[in-house]
Amino acid sequence: MAFKQKLANVTGLKPSLIPSSYQILGDIMLLKVPNATQAEKNKIARGAMLLLPYVRSVCEIKEVKGELRQPAVKLIAGERTETIHTENNVKYHLDVSKIMFSKGNLNERQRLIKKIKKDETIVDMFAGIGYFSLPIAKHTKAKKIVAIEKNLDAFRFLKNNIQLNNLTNVQTIWGDCKDFAKSVTNFADRIIMGYFPDTEEFLPYAVRIAKNNAIVHFHNIYSAKDLWKKPLKQIEEACSQQSCGFEVLEKKKVKSYKPGVFHVVVDFKIIKE
Ligand SMILES: C[S@@+](CC[C@H](N)C(=O)[O-])C[C@H]1O[C@@H](n2cnc3c(N)ncnc32)[C@H](O)[C@@H]1O
Repeated sequence: MAFKQKLANVTGLKPSLIPSSYQILGDIMLLKVPNATQAEKNKIARGAMLLLPYVRSVCEIKEVKGELRQPAVKLIAGERTETIHTENNVKYHLDVSKIMFSKGNLNERQRLIKKIKKDETIVDMFAGIGYFSLPIAKHTKAKKIVAIEKNLDAFRFLKNNIQLNNLTNVQTIWGDCKDFAKSVTNFADRIIMGYFPDTEEFLPYAVRIAKNNAIVHFHNIYSAKDLWKKPLKQIEEACSQQSCGFEVLEKKKVKSYKPGVFHVVVDFKIIKE
């Protein structure tokens, strides 16, 4: 029997009130319950904890907002919003009320690891709590990963997660990746731009940070009708402004973001000489 039906049975609520999807991070369940009253939300949360005994807290998630990607999350049942989530042998300590974590990007994290070559210097321009930097440091032979993060909450978890996973080759910078790019040029073999929307604004900074032949992983969101003309034009503009060439290596849909809109990634090589 599907979880939704089991939860309807255990709570005695109409199936239309029960969310059809949920996300579990560590021992915390996150769900959307837009049409339920507080009493119904409490029943749903208690029912979920009964059905999945390893779940220690249940939280309602409304949206992930703003430049710093802060989630609107409220605890419904349990006591904690902090947890340790493990994925691909990497531990991520996070507070779901302060930090987002997209399980939908798992395939992308795994795809990226396979691309990294020995001794690369990598810049993770939007490091968050280490979504990309930690698995790269753990599973590849990269020389150094510079992980830049602007949100202080995320930055603190990033520092903590580096220790938690016993990693030694991640250097952290609390600040704006644009400022880093103003002081550093021809630095990285690979640049990760794991952020959206409007990531194109940051392309000129990625081009500056790149060495000749560096590879950029450019994430953004586009409506289906703009694929792939718009992202390729944005890359072309950023490269030609700095008199660079480029070669597209791969372009992929990462996940559906909302109806008709996709989170995509374009891998391209920057040619400076
Ligand atoms: C949440 S992550 C993206 C999600 C991640 N790629 C994943 O796999 O789940 C994006 C991060 O970029 C950070 N950020 C936004 N603008 C920034 C900037 N200008 N410089 C550095 N970090 C920035 C946000 O604070 C956020 O933590």
